[in-house]
Amino acid sequence: MLFKQQALLRQKLFVLGSLAIGSLLYLVARVGSLDRLQPLCPIDGRFGPRSQDEIPLRALQFKRGLLHEFRKGNATKEQIRLHNLVQQLPKAIIIGVRKGGTRALLEMLNLHPAVVKASQEIHFFDNDENYAKGTEWYRKKMPFSYPHQITIEKSPAYFITEEVPERIYKMNSSIKLLIIVREPTTRAISDYTQVLEGKERKNKTYYKFEKLAIDPNTCEVNTKYKAVRTSIYTKHLERWLKYFPIEQFHIVDGDRLITEPLPELQLVEKFLNLPPRISQYNLYFNATRGFYCLRFNIVFNKCLAGSKGRIHPEVDTSVITKLRKFFHPFNQKFYQITGRTFNWP
Ligand code: A3P
Repeated sequence: MLFKQQALLRQKLFVLGSLAIGSLLYLVARVGSLDRLQPLCPIDGRFGPRSQDEIPLRALQFKRGLLHEFRKGNATKEQIRLHNLVQQLPKAIIIGVRKGGTRALLEMLNLHPAVVKASQEIHFFDNDENYAKGTEWYRKKMPFSYPHQITIEKSPAYFITEEVPERIYKMNSSIKLLIIVREPTTRAISDYTQVLEGKERKNKTYYKFEKLAIDPNTCEVNTKYKAVRTSIYTKHLERWLKYFPIEQFHIVDGDRLITEPLPELQLVEKFLNLPPRISQYNLYFNATRGFYCLRFNIVFNKCLAGSKGRIHPEVDTSVITKLRKFFHPFNQKFYQITGRTFNWP
């Protein structure tokens, strides 16, 4: 009897021990795989070879560590010089579309070790006052990065602002342009929801979406309403095409970025000529938020702010139908120009 109990105890200890060793091995492998992400690039050889004395990066950890400190302005000039850090003009810009998922796209791309994001929207090209300050001012707004990394900024107002394509072209005619779109009616409602929330915060009343989106005199879609105009993607894109060939744009499916982000990000990696580095490990679904969140490493992960993923107000179905019918021909044209088809109604 005693012998049987001892054997059982030994068996239990063996199972527990194996579990502990297994978990330890998994953690070691995981951290190891993150470390192996470096060194990477130069991307396509475009940024030149890394110098011998360059400090090897542990990119993902670095993003939360050293670079984070630099962004907060805690770095000394000596540290910047020592680490060979520079402020570079963006090689790619997320030009829009507002409420398409521009923040999620930027944050997710920033998971890539060769990408460094400009955290704030800079509004250089759409704001005359900022634009008058010149390109050097714009560059100084950029985060510190290693020369082999690429800087990306996002300012969704660029997509719809008349002067922007020409201004960006003058700065860099071969820049890569990212546009993230969502089903146009959903995007318009999301746009409205953001404005509504702003009004409510100031204790102000606001019109219902239906009242803004439909012209009460004609009962037709109100094309003067900005949230509607912004969703006519083809009209805006056509202005951009006067300056840039379609090959310089990449269209991201914002609806799919919500439900299945990885394949969308892999398409962007390809477009930017980046080696594939973002993996499923970097993205996990957070049931409480109802969205995918970001995992940089075993200790650091984050979800987007609560202002991303608001609950939309109920909208009259006849208004939704009217809007979808209105957007339909513009959507067809957009598919035709971009070569990317969406299942929009
Ligand atoms: P809603 O608030 O309408 O849901 P932008 O950053 O351009 O303002 O876009 C905001 C939209 O990003 C949100 O719109 C949300 O649906 C979408 N989004 C995409 N991926 C997200 C994520 N992982 N977390 C939160 N919001 C995300």
